[in-house]
Amino acid sequence: MVACLDPTTGAGGGAAVLRNAGVEVEIGVLADEVARGPLEAWLTSHALGRPFVTWKYAATLDGRSAAADGSSRWITGEPARADVHRLRAESDAVVVGVGTVLADDPMLDVRPDAGHQPLRVIVDSTGRTPLSARALAGPAPAIVAMCEHADNPGYPRTLSLPATADRRVELPSLLSRLAERHDVVSVLLEGGPTLAGAFVAAGLVDRVVGYVAPALLGDGPPALAAAGVGTISAVRRLRLDEVMRIGDDVRLTLRPLRS
Ligand SMILES: NC(=O)c1ccc[n+]([C@@H]2O[C@H](COP(=O)([O-])OP(=O)(O)OC[C@H]3O[C@@H](n4cnc5c(N)ncnc54)[C@H](OP(=O)(O)O)[C@@H]3O)[C@@H](O)[C@H]2O)c1
Repeated sequence: MVACLDPTTGAGGGAAVLRNAGVEVEIGVLADEVARGPLEAWLTSHALGRPFVTWKYAATLDGRSAAADGSSRWITGEPARADVHRLRAESDAVVVGVGTVLADDPMLDVRPDAGHQPLRVIVDSTGRTPLSARALAGPAPAIVAMCEHADNPGYPRTLSLPATADRRVELPSLLSRLAERHDVVSVLLEGGPTLAGAFVAAGLVDRVVGYVAPALLGDGPPALAAAGVGTISAVRRLRLDEVMRIGDDVRLTLRPLRS
């Protein structure tokens, strides 16, 4: 039984070989489960020619990703944060904007017992990330994705990328470069709201994992900033695939409805 055929050019035609040898081969068994499970990132990256992108966020019930003073630790409880470490460990790269690095100075690593450490990527058009940033330290690999016009203030590893008209890192180029140079198949986009909005606007988010806390802030940055939606008819609709309680929080897993 086969869930789905290998779509790559290197596929060896194993199903046909088995059939020619008289073996009964059934194709498509549990295909949807597999396409949304262990092979989702790989199949999507092959189909789209870029890594599979999961945007993960934590927000209060009223959709705030931080308080009015910029502080956001912690919106969700320990079980939800442990679940984020699991998501990170499953990803080849973790991506954040420089705004999050300046506000929170996150490590972006995975707890040592999780094994694999994803590549940490800071999207920082002009090199505002302090050389002392925790996301550049420690054993996990780290890279600063900058615009070609910017000078490197001394980061050990950078990606030099084309700029958009507003002189920010061009996101499709970032993803294709991560795939080509760093074998990245799956990306966990951890925000913040400005960078996530740009990814959504560019149609570069394949899955959304939202951790919603039973808490209210009433003010502060939203979970998602400008995403290219000016009117309700342009709203980005998602399919709700899973709702799970994690500790006192709720985890929502959604995928964009693609036309
Ligand atoms: N609750 C959560 O899940 C969560 C997660 C992360 C952050 N946060 C909170 O969010 C706040 C920070 O968010 P933020 O929106 O200011 O920062 P951000 O989204 O992390 O970073 C935004 C910055 O990324 C850079 N960038 C480079 N290329 C870009 C592109 N193509 N499109 C958009 N941005 C690009 C821009 O700076 P340059 O132009 O200088 O490059 C931009 O200002 C903090 O309060 C933090 O605590 C919350």
